[in-house]
Amino acid sequence: MPSEPTSFSSESYFATQPPPSTLEHDIAGVRNFVARQQASGRNVVLVTSGGTTVPLELNVVRFLDNFSAGTRGATSAEYFLKSGYAVIFMHRQFSLQPFSRHYSHSTNPFLDFLEIDEDQPSSSFSSSHPQISSSSLTSQTSSEPKAATCPSQIGVTPSKRTHLLEVLTAYKQVHASGTLHTLTFVTVNDYLWLLRAVSQELSALNRKAMYYLAAAVSDFFLPRQKMSEHKIQSGKGSLHIEMDQVPKILKPMVDEWTRNGYIVSFKLETDPALLIPKARASLERYGHQVVIGNDLNRRKFEVVFVSRKVSSTPVRLTTGSEDVFEENWLRIDLNQDNDKEIEEDIVRELVKRHEEWVRKEE
Ligand code: PMT
Repeated sequence: MPSEPTSFSSESYFATQPPPSTLEHDIAGVRNFVARQQASGRNVVLVTSGGTTVPLELNVVRFLDNFSAGTRGATSAEYFLKSGYAVIFMHRQFSLQPFSRHYSHSTNPFLDFLEIDEDQPSSSFSSSHPQISSSSLTSQTSSEPKAATCPSQIGVTPSKRTHLLEVLTAYKQVHASGTLHTLTFVTVNDYLWLLRAVSQELSALNRKAMYYLAAAVSDFFLPRQKMSEHKIQSGKGSLHIEMDQVPKILKPMVDEWTRNGYIVSFKLETDPALLIPKARASLERYGHQVVIGNDLNRRKFEVVFVSRKVSSTPVRLTTGSEDVFEENWLRIDLNQDNDKEIEEDIVRELVKRHEEWVRKEE
């Protein structure tokens, strides 16, 4: 008989599920980053991005995955950086990242940006390639081949130069200013442990911290205690798995882990009729600041901000919520402006709202 599903609170979750082995190291890096940003007086936003996995075995061969390429998170992170924020970018390993997202291998392969300049005279790597020094080439043993002769030089396709230069310049500036800190997760367990620890570190910034939860987080998982150690065998026919519910972590996040931080969550639905009621229910239940609703098929050009009306106090309501919440739709016309990214407008609106939130402290 299958065992009963367990209902995990966030306390019982963290008491029974083991932390990822890299947690302490990751958090030391975050602490350092937060201290530097605090000294410089910057606002900091935690952006979560990409989908979490749920492994089915301890020696994992199979897992369930959540839908998300990481576009929303990676794009938003870039606009936050542009707006002067420092960004902790917590993303699913190998999902899209700020800046490099422009050259995703599937939609915009990097090699398509390069061309071989046949007009340049032939030369060896050692003299024409600044990255490969002649000393590294001369240290080769005599049995190794001599420095390869480079038939020509590599250039950037002229039509792509302006864009590449823009992206590269922004990327270099962000690296020089040290305003981007990157963390990775794979499983929902990695995500939950990291989210709690990063939120607690970031709470040192009080109202100057924003939390932008764009990751697509699994709702169900297999606790370690119920996982098969080895690969599940297929010989027994169909597979029945009973999963437990992932604890709703927005509640402890609002009530315990963050101190007056500005918390933005996302609500993804495929039935448009559910978007606003579910977003409102989330605000009622957790008491955070904004839910951004997005429909799966319209998310690139339309989102809705659901929040409490300015005069309303953040009390939990069970009835009459229509009077308490307001919706602001944000739309872009992709026919008119093909290059426009809706994240630019999302971030602009949030920065404005966050500034008002920070001012409340003064
Ligand atoms: O990356 P893209 O391909 O661009 O897609 C972006 C997106 C559609 C995935 C993104 O815009 C989005 O909607 N992300 C949230 C999807 C989701 O998982 O919604 P949810 O209803 O499961 O969760 C609501 C919120 O609580 C989310 O902000 C989620 O990050 C957070 N959450 C949920 C459950 C949980 N246990 N922990 C959480 O942090």
